[in-house]
Amino acid sequence: MSPLILKRGKDMNFINGSKAVHCSIALDGPSGAGKSTIAKAIAKDMNYLYLDTGAMYRAFGLYAIRNGIDFSGSWNDKGNEKALIALLDSFDLDVNYVDGLQRVYVCGEDYTDYIRTNEVSKAASAVAVISAVRLKMVELQRKIAAGINVVMDGRDIGTYVLPNATVKIFVTASPIARAKRRYKELLDKGDNSHTFEQVYNDMIERDKNDSTRSFAPLTRADDATLLDTTDLNLEESIEAVRSIILSRLGLK
Ligand code: DC
Repeated sequence: MSPLILKRGKDMNFINGSKAVHCSIALDGPSGAGKSTIAKAIAKDMNYLYLDTGAMYRAFGLYAIRNGIDFSGSWNDKGNEKALIALLDSFDLDVNYVDGLQRVYVCGEDYTDYIRTNEVSKAASAVAVISAVRLKMVELQRKIAAGINVVMDGRDIGTYVLPNATVKIFVTASPIARAKRRYKELLDKGDNSHTFEQVYNDMIERDKNDSTRSFAPLTRADDATLLDTTDLNLEESIEAVRSIILSRLGLK
């Protein structure tokens, strides 16, 4: 991998000739497009903070499951909405970094290792529909990003969380390619409790849920560069994002 030419405190503080206080990179797109892995690598390269916003929705999804909310029914069970909003009062979320890796804490308990299951994926997508939930997450996301160089990935970063982000990229891939990656990820973790078909169907449902909600849905910002990673491996995807960043910053 060639080193990123951008240097913190040098090029990054002078964008288009004017002094920028900080630089923010927004990576949005559906699940399985590779955003998180790409964002993590780019942030490391550039010495930026990486914020995985999906982990925050996952943490609330798991908190809700642990507090007895049942997500096994229809995706947007209106019966759950009131109970979920009530739960927000006691939901004390904290994001921290251990050895450079993001960890999420709920009421002081580290949730990080428990939020990547299929069950939590569904819960996260379901809670993310609720405006009150999103507003709480977005407030914290903006607070974390304020005044620092950051790479943030999610669904609404370029459109809602950081509408003035320095660089916006919308990363996508075909549903089959994304489901294959997600399935492999689960198998690699030793979770073989789902068939490929289930993973694929869940992902399609989640895409639909994320992109049709009324508040801050998954959508490409008008000024975001589109990157399709269907035929790219991870290294190629990272290289493509790196190239877009350089070009968007006028450094290439
Ligand atoms: O990126 P992920 O798969 O970890 O995200 C989990 C869910 O959280 C996803 O289905 C939608 C929701 N989400 C969101 O609505 N907005 C974000 N900025 C990030 C995630």
